[in-house]
Amino acid sequence: MTEKKTWPRMQEMKEAGEKIVMITAYDYASATMAQNAGVDFILVGDSLGNVVQGCDNTLPVTVDEIIYHSKMVRRGAPDTCVVGDMPFGSYEVTIEEGVRNAIRMMKEGGCDGVKLEGGIERAPLIKALTEASVPVMAHIGMTPQKIAQMGGFKVQGKSVEAAQKLIDAAKELEAAGAVQVLMECVPAPLATKITESLHVPTIGIGAGAGCDGQVLVWYDLAGMYDKFCPKFVKKYAEAGKMITNAMAEYVSEVKGGQFPDDAHSFALKNADEILPRLY
Ligand code: KIV
Repeated sequence: MTEKKTWPRMQEMKEAGEKIVMITAYDYASATMAQNAGVDFILVGDSLGNVVQGCDNTLPVTVDEIIYHSKMVRRGAPDTCVVGDMPFGSYEVTIEEGVRNAIRMMKEGGCDGVKLEGGIERAPLIKALTEASVPVMAHIGMTPQKIAQMGGFKVQGKSVEAAQKLIDAAKELEAAGAVQVLMECVPAPLATKITESLHVPTIGIGAGAGCDGQVLVWYDLAGMYDKFCPKFVKKYAEAGKMITNAMAEYVSEVKGGQFPDDAHSFALKNADEILPRLY
């Protein structure tokens, strides 16, 4: 068992120049694997809408679903910091609703904090959450919940104005109380500059090596999701192909009568005596 990485511990890691590793997980099995692999913290991401539910985007995911998956992750990774992703519609209408939903994710889902998407406009909510003792990771740059407004998944911060807006947002959200800032699809030199200008750790996904830590969707890194593969994904395995081959072998053995064999069946002692007496 490794030492549980708390938010303050991850702050110390930034200060010591130690990289922070985050991965998504959505159930007991993936959380157990993540903890055993030594990740520092787990995100119960609304990406479950894509990779678990098969939706085209993350918009349909609900607070109840994040809580449902967080409970399983909590059981699988009791010694790992777990962050629940606030889904679309759970924090935009009023600050009170956002705080109430975040507290539900901690109380009912067992999360150690929440992540939420958006720029400078999220500062009042992050301040309110911080006052309510909810640790918040701010997610800036490409924010998939804004897909309709953004018109697709695009790298952010490519002009002087857009880059400055991201720097301003990161600083403002940190000042509001964000304990970490996640950057998605941000050019590497800009993400490095933002990392250097913040006290809190930055976590990158498609934001280059200059961030304090990295996150990947576990289905992506394991090769379990083929529908869409962004440039920033590195596949560390072809688990999807491996599992499909295993299932195909099972199909073939059942149809061919090789499975189950004696090694995978239960014998009945005295079958010669027992079976003839049955009707
Ligand atoms: O939902 C998610 O998995 C995320 C990561 C891609 C950062 O937000």
